Amino acid sequence: MDYQDPVRAELERDRIFGEVPFIVAHSSEVARTGDFISLDLPRNKVVVVRQRDGSVRAFINACRHRGAQLVTEDSGTCRIFSCPYHRWSYGINGELRSVTLNNTFGEFDRSTSGMIEIPVEERHGFVWAIDNAEREIDVAAWLGPEMDVVMAEYEIDRLISVDPHTYQRPVNWKIMQDGFLDNYHVKYAHPNTAGKMLHTNAVTLDDLGRSFWFLTARKSIDQFIGQDLEWTKEMEGHTIESCFLAPNTMLLKHATHFELLTFRPVGADPGQSIMQMRIMAPSVEDSGITEEHWHKRWAKNWGLLIAILHDEDFPILDSSQSALASLDAGTMLLGRNELASHLFRREVDRLIRAEAPGR
Ligand code: FES
Ligand SMILES: [Fe+2]
Repeated sequence: MDYQDPVRAELERDRIFGEVPFIVAHSSEVARTGDFISLDLPRNKVVVVRQRDGSVRAFINACRHRGAQLVTEDSGTCRIFSCPYHRWSYGINGELRSVTLNNTFGEFDRSTSGMIEIPVEERHGFVWAIDNAEREIDVAAWLGPEMDVVMAEYEIDRLISVDPHTYQRPVNWKIMQDGFLDNYHVKYAHPNTAGKMLHTNAVTLDDLGRSFWFLTARKSIDQFIGQDLEWTKEMEGHTIESCFLAPNTMLLKHATHFELLTFRPVGADPGQSIMQMRIMAPSVEDSGITEEHWHKRWAKNWGLLIAILHDEDFPILDSSQSALASLDAGTMLLGRNELASHLFRREVDRLIRAEAPGR
């Protein structure tokens, strides 16, 4: 794995993010007509927007006149996209609607001057994209039949995304992804937080060929040691079920909610990445609690997540990037226990090498 090489980073940007589907939002983040979010994907700045017919589409966030960024807010609701520079406007379906001082432009084909679209698909409660206007998307085919069933059974489309967080970090996206596939570091790097609740270096993993499913154990599972038991629903509370969704996503299933962690490079810069963290939970109505209690509950959950990931993991992961920049840092050694990281590398390397990536 290469963490410093701009040539490698360019291949990753194009052959991974420009070729295969990855999650860019939870559907609830663009719930109603005109709801949009803007995102920096590795190859394009895009705006993801809910259409009048209920579908979701994504467009390059650049005006077709002289390229000014159309949408500058991270999220919002709108009826048209209006360019701040010379006020050309576009419908939420990307069509060019109006050109100011129209007659100075004479005749030109408006139908080909709309916002440029990249392929997106909604499936299993998420919005997936391929960051490439030239591709077509098929999420089920990418997930494969087994992972597609796992995802369908989770019913994450019934939940809502609570206050998603985005971080840009000075670290290669693969170091970030590795850090959150790693069960070996738990008690060493998180002795007073996650290390108290979770077992270290105890993972059971089901390799589905591209993605994988795995289970980590909470310490509370120890109460069953020595008992000859059938696996029951009640015991699920003593484990965390997770999926690695190739190429860049970790999904964790908790008793009351899901967490989703996604990682992607910033353009072809090997030293910068964007991590997005999401909590998907039942709505206030579905939870049967007061709105105040609901907000308190999820603010507390976010607090715990940030205390571990942001405060404890990020400094270590950032330091890996800067230490590995040492010209004589040498090579790395991955243990047999670090199976998840081996499988992540397998898929990244396969995509990089593929003649026709992703297919
Ligand atoms: S750049 Fe958008 S209207 Fe001119
Ligand atoms: Fe960690």
